Amino acid sequence: MRKNIVAGNWKMNNDLAQTQALISDLVEQTQTSNAEVMIAPTFTNLYSACEALREANIEVISQNMHFAKNGAYTGEISACMLKSIGVETVILGHSERRAQFGETDALLAEKVNAALENNMRIIFCFGEELNDRKTDNHFNVVKGQIKNALFHLPESAWKNIILAYEPVWAIGTGETASPEQAQEMHKFIRETLDNKYGVDTANSVSILYGGSVKPNNAKEIFSKPDVDGGLIGGAALNAIDFYAIVNAF
Ligand code: 13P
Repeated sequence: MRKNIVAGNWKMNNDLAQTQALISDLVEQTQTSNAEVMIAPTFTNLYSACEALREANIEVISQNMHFAKNGAYTGEISACMLKSIGVETVILGHSERRAQFGETDALLAEKVNAALENNMRIIFCFGEELNDRKTDNHFNVVKGQIKNALFHLPESAWKNIILAYEPVWAIGTGETASPEQAQEMHKFIRETLDNKYGVDTANSVSILYGGSVKPNNAKEIFSKPDVDGGLIGGAALNAIDFYAIVNAF
């Protein structure tokens, strides 16, 4: 059966000392939980985070990567570089990457291929903007994002893919999708997968919700049948809040 996952996306926050301090706080909070726990520090702190969490039940993951193996790509990081320090999972397609760094579905398809070729797991993000929802276009937008970046993949690739529905209007705004809105979209996503790959694949893929998940709303959102966890921004920067969310399962 699919896994419950809670992943903290730290975005561009925390220098080395702050990363180490937050990691010790997280280790103090760690207990047996019903969810897989992941954190995504910045590139410069991935190695020390991997070292610090080698024995812990927290996986260190990356916020991004380039599609090429190596070469003249100033400022970029490749899948094999991530793998060489012990990072096995990468977030791709975050709305901040799409909006601020011009990442398109076509580019994301290349990144997806590169991650899979390197046997990495992917947390693939997508989600509509406010205007899409207001114009009742949110299902089309989400379907297009999934189809364009992922539907060229064979069924066997899906064991390494985790989906994260993050409506752009709910990210960092304090305004979360209601549990019903999240469930409605997650169900639609699972049906979209079912139509393309069949029910077994559709039921095996974890679909996370992201967008202003906090300790006070996580339990209700996670109680929905098609919501398998969360991708957490702001609340992942505090160990007590983050573990309150993890323990909402
Ligand atoms: P917030 O939890 O801060 O809304 O961020 C969500 C997010 O973008 C996680 O990737």
